[in-house]
Amino acid sequence: MGKIIAFANQKGGVGKTTTAINVAASLAVSEFKTLLVDLDPQSNATTGLSEMFTPNGTTIYDVLIREKPMSKGIRKTALEYLDLVPSTHDLVGAEIELVGMLAREYRLRDCIKRQVKKYDYVLLDCPPSLGLLTLNALSSSDSVLIPIQCEYFALEGLSQLLQTIRLVQRHLNTKLDIEGVLITMYDGRLNLSKQVEKEVRQYFNGKTFKTVIRRNVRLSEAPSFGKPILLYEANSPGAQDYLTLVQEMLNRGNKKAR
Ligand SMILES: Nc1ncnc2c1ncn2[C@@H]1O[C@H](COP(=O)(O)OP(=O)(O)O)[C@@H](O)[C@H]1O
Ligand SMILES: [Mg+2]
Repeated sequence: MGKIIAFANQKGGVGKTTTAINVAASLAVSEFKTLLVDLDPQSNATTGLSEMFTPNGTTIYDVLIREKPMSKGIRKTALEYLDLVPSTHDLVGAEIELVGMLAREYRLRDCIKRQVKKYDYVLLDCPPSLGLLTLNALSSSDSVLIPIQCEYFALEGLSQLLQTIRLVQRHLNTKLDIEGVLITMYDGRLNLSKQVEKEVRQYFNGKTFKTVIRRNVRLSEAPSFGKPILLYEANSPGAQDYLTLVQEMLNRGNKKAR
């Protein structure tokens, strides 16, 4: 049975999509069968992997709203162990259309249920909001990974996210765990980065990953080539940081299992 992880933070531009794509690719090269689901109407995960797959017209919108089977939305990619469910701008409408639907917080969970057996990991790239798409992701997931960008006001808005996670844990998905908090776009030359790191580690005592993702221009270039960093520049600090992160996630998982 695969583990389902949501990548969530209602702030935009904190590194959710970059992390979802590159954790997915790092898991896939380690031969873990991985499915990445793009849940953002901005479709950045889909375009960031555009050179890796051939679209067939079916997207996550068709699956969630038009009741097309998830299997029709799953695309194979150039990485043997990585599959993708793409999104398009249509998904904007889902946020509203879901409101009137029965069991609206569980649509995604019900769609994933049959697929999850085929994968070791299912990763959900959330939009920058706490609307019904993110609620669907949190209701379906075993855990949530929270990326935090090293910038002013890094912790702002987090209490709202944690409150939402608590509400989901109480009412929709009691097994939801925090996978970890990830510091992204870290620049060791800046005092600001060090200060934010310190604050995040204090606030999320024990939940923050040891691995930090350094600011690396290769990570921001890779999506315009439609590839994960490992296939764009495997020797870059960005590629190395995501491999280290995945190793840390796997080690943490093993510790918990013991
Ligand atoms: N470690 C990094 N170094 C440099 N640029 C990054 C890094 N992580 C993300 N970016 C860039 O920052 C922007 C926002 O990242 P993204 O992953 O799209 O955030 P989100 O999905 O949270 O909106 C993108 O242009 C991305 O390429
Ligand atoms: Mg994104």
